[in-house]
Amino acid sequence: MYYIGIDSSTTATKALLMDSAGQVLAVAASEYPFETPRPLWSEQHPDLWWDGAQKSIRAVLEQSGVNPAEIGGVGLTGQMHGLVLLDADGNVLRPSILWNDQRTQSQCDEIHARIGREKFIQITGNVALTGFTAPKILWVKENEPEIYAKAAHVLLPKDYVRYKLTGVFAMDKADGAGTVLMDLKARDWSDEVLAALDIPREWMPPLYEGPQVTGHLTVEAAEATGLQAGTPVMAGGGDQAAQAVGVGAVSEGIVALTLGTSGVVFATANGAFVEPEGRLHAFCHSVPGKWHLMGVMLSAAGSLRWYRDTFAPGIGFDELLAPAAEISPGADGLLFLPYLTGERTPHPDPLARGAFVGLTVRHSLAHTTRAVLEGVAFGLKDSFELMKSSGLGEITQVRVSGGGAKSPLWRQILADVFGCELVTVNTTEGAAYGAALLAGVGAGQFPSVEKACEMAVQVTGSTLPDEKRVKAYAAMYPLYRDLYPALTSTFQSLGNS
Ligand code: XUL
Repeated sequence: MYYIGIDSSTTATKALLMDSAGQVLAVAASEYPFETPRPLWSEQHPDLWWDGAQKSIRAVLEQSGVNPAEIGGVGLTGQMHGLVLLDADGNVLRPSILWNDQRTQSQCDEIHARIGREKFIQITGNVALTGFTAPKILWVKENEPEIYAKAAHVLLPKDYVRYKLTGVFAMDKADGAGTVLMDLKARDWSDEVLAALDIPREWMPPLYEGPQVTGHLTVEAAEATGLQAGTPVMAGGGDQAAQAVGVGAVSEGIVALTLGTSGVVFATANGAFVEPEGRLHAFCHSVPGKWHLMGVMLSAAGSLRWYRDTFAPGIGFDELLAPAAEISPGADGLLFLPYLTGERTPHPDPLARGAFVGLTVRHSLAHTTRAVLEGVAFGLKDSFELMKSSGLGEITQVRVSGGGAKSPLWRQILADVFGCELVTVNTTEGAAYGAALLAGVGAGQFPSVEKACEMAVQVTGSTLPDEKRVKAYAAMYPLYRDLYPALTSTFQSLGNS
């Protein structure tokens, strides 16, 4: 049999087709834009995802030549948190308000005021952040009452694709937790939170574990996609949880680190651990009965790109990074703070800024380059520290992916700063691949998500920490930690200028 994963991200919907051994046979993507109708807003029409899904499914069937009757299941993933509001007939009521939309600060404050910040963290595992879904629902209620009056269903982006494929309203628990309307421990909607926010429970779809079958392809959807009617569609997961499945980060102790423009530290947890102040996101995993903690750094590889484009324009990354390898750990007393676009973890502060601290005439471009690599590593280490303080056990291995992971020097710095092994894996298709594996588990092809990952994901390279450098970074890290509190009032005074 064969399995398809579909990832509806902010920039494209991608389909991936794999065989029963986890070999990827075809990948296709259909790109689209998102709208910024006003400053801080970010919206996208759900039709784009459905249109992208139809095109990319057709493309992978064509590329692979696989008989649609041999597709054992379709798994879904996509951008998390985006609000999709439908009326009672399943019509889209307004464009989706996306995860990166920032309009809802007053609704977040309102949520904390109504429920109590501490209690909200206790129930949902998280603070209300502008990116999450719940404050977006309140925003529509306050600002578009005529639309709110017609609302009957709340979905997330990939679940709209599911609705078009199956006619069924359903959601997986990993993505569901990102609405911050769930009771994290119970892995179900929180009646208490829904009641406090006046959101009818009937609006919320049934919740499923990642590999569970949520519905089957309708005749119309079969015509639209080229798949066979009756093909099962599995729950899947939000992009971060599915990405973790795609790199095999499904057991406690193994962390997935994605080093893209932003940096995501994702740790599987066997229990519903919560960072007491809500500085980490705590959601369900798409592995049944497991949870995860997640830290998000807004400018990770984005910091290096900014640095290169600003101070060494036109130079390739390899050329830029080579001299930095000759500089000793700690860059001779130079620190870099990577908050170039504000920060989420560990300081949820849109006004936080970047800084070089400790510059002297002895410092060269090689030093500043090394300081950028180290500063990002220290910032990511902050998430590891918060994970430990939330009760999570020892982290034994970090599985790194994303553009930044291509640099051996950066991988070595990360291993030395974290003080643990960093590995690369053979799977590079991320969330779509994870969604296809979840479909395979749901179809009975693999006995569990863990076994599917064991079979499909192989370690291709390992970077071990060096004891001497680990010590050097351990001495430097407290100095880095002191920078943000020391500079906070300056950042506040600089404001949005
Ligand atoms: C996760 C998050 C992003 C989106 C982007 O909390 O906001 O990763 O899911 O796709």
